[in-house]
Amino acid sequence: MSTDETRSQDPFTFPFNYFKFLSDEEKQLLNCLYREISEIVKDVIGHGINHHLATSRYAYTLSLADGKGRHNFLAALCGIIHDLRWWDDKERKARKLKIDKIEGVPSPVDILDGLLEQKIITADERSTCALVISAHSDLPTEQAPALLKYLRGGDRLSRFGVEGLKLLFELNYHYHLSGNNTPFYIEGGKISWNRDDGIIPNSEIKSCVDDVRACLSWILIAETPAETVLMNQLEEPLVEFLRVFHWHQINSYEFWLEKIDNEIFIQMLT
Ligand SMILES: [Fe+2]
Repeated sequence: MSTDETRSQDPFTFPFNYFKFLSDEEKQLLNCLYREISEIVKDVIGHGINHHLATSRYAYTLSLADGKGRHNFLAALCGIIHDLRWWDDKERKARKLKIDKIEGVPSPVDILDGLLEQKIITADERSTCALVISAHSDLPTEQAPALLKYLRGGDRLSRFGVEGLKLLFELNYHYHLSGNNTPFYIEGGKISWNRDDGIIPNSEIKSCVDDVRACLSWILIAETPAETVLMNQLEEPLVEFLRVFHWHQINSYEFWLEKIDNEIFIQMLT
């Protein structure tokens, strides 16, 4: 049984109980979007429904740290729809995605416009959410609205841990099919970390190195008793992947490229 099949049977039957400080109407709306988006992204590697849901939850949690209020709902809303822009022509071209465009798939702005029309969100909220979603991959600025910080933080947190690492790997498998030949890289973006960093030095392209570092930290933590318990609950493919990752340096390009080319290894993960 694949990981996704297993996941679809579990807490996702009631994923929005998580948002306990939202109103029933807000939770119901998120639940409807969740179901709609699950269908849209069911074949998308790395940016499937699990990523959208995790981002939504983390963005909401970060927002909650700033108190109760409407911003918590908006953070969750932005999270659940934020990567539907992957279906935009511009986005697909920029990222050299090989995914076939599906006609009629809504973008985040289409969804926000629909919510505005139904008077579920205000015009101001629609504009803020649209802005935040379109800017969430850019480098942070001092003046960034709080909602952008929640969404960006949620997006990054969703990549932590072994599942995040697996997602990174899957993503790069995808980029590799597009002609990129360096593991754990995102081609064409702005770099978001110290350019002189020695792990994966390259001043021209954005790297997933921050995310990978987070995963490396997780591996270190996994040596503590509490995390050992957690690890024992992971499914075997994830444990195996973590094991492989643990024993091979992140900059062992040849090793990882060989893995990326290895269909059996990829199938083991998916
Ligand atoms: Fe994302």
